[in-house]
Amino acid sequence: MRIDIITVVPELLESPFNHSILKRAKERNLLQIHIHHLRDFAINKYGQVDDTQYGGGAGMVLMCEPLGDAIKKLKSERVYDDIIYLTPDGQTFHQRTANTLSLKENLMLICGHYKGIDQRIRDLYVTREISIGDYVLSGGELAAAIVVDSVARLIPGVLNDETSALTDSHQDNLLAPPVYSRPAEYEGLKVPDVLLSGNFKLIDEWRQDQALKRTEERRPDLLA
Ligand code: ADE
Repeated sequence: MRIDIITVVPELLESPFNHSILKRAKERNLLQIHIHHLRDFAINKYGQVDDTQYGGGAGMVLMCEPLGDAIKKLKSERVYDDIIYLTPDGQTFHQRTANTLSLKENLMLICGHYKGIDQRIRDLYVTREISIGDYVLSGGELAAAIVVDSVARLIPGVLNDETSALTDSHQDNLLAPPVYSRPAEYEGLKVPDVLLSGNFKLIDEWRQDQALKRTEERRPDLLA
């Protein structure tokens, strides 16, 4: 999978993709991430990419030309399955969207800033708008990092144990059951006997049961 990200703050995206699972995905050539600095497409030598809003009001808007030029350049080089704008008024991001996106080949992510991007860029080019939750970030970069992380770990071959993504929280609309590692007893608290039993059928049933219980207690909305 190839992901192109357009941003005015590329520094914000330097670290998230260079560690742990995403690093491995890139090393295994399962994932390519390319960051594009919007200022490289600025309309003047001052690096201008934003302007005030028509109609007045506080806050700057990312202008059509720089963004349009950046998108057109990328589109001339390959076909994108989705051109995604990260925005608090987009569709709330869920695991099922991550699953869908993990099957794509080329994704473009556009990070907004200030008051957002000119509506005409949304009308002309954007195919999907994603919000990572009902709160407002300073820009789309952290949201983009979250989307990329959750999508990349689902690409076949990225996780060592293929089944491990399937047992994550939210993969069946269920939260994950509790997990334990050594020692078998810590500060008087014991690992549930069933996990030490070696009976995998019983262990599976226990985990299913715990997942259901946890979901009922914490996120009954997922079961509705
Ligand atoms: N940009 C600013 N806030 C955001 C949010 N909640 N989700 C996605 N992009 C954003």
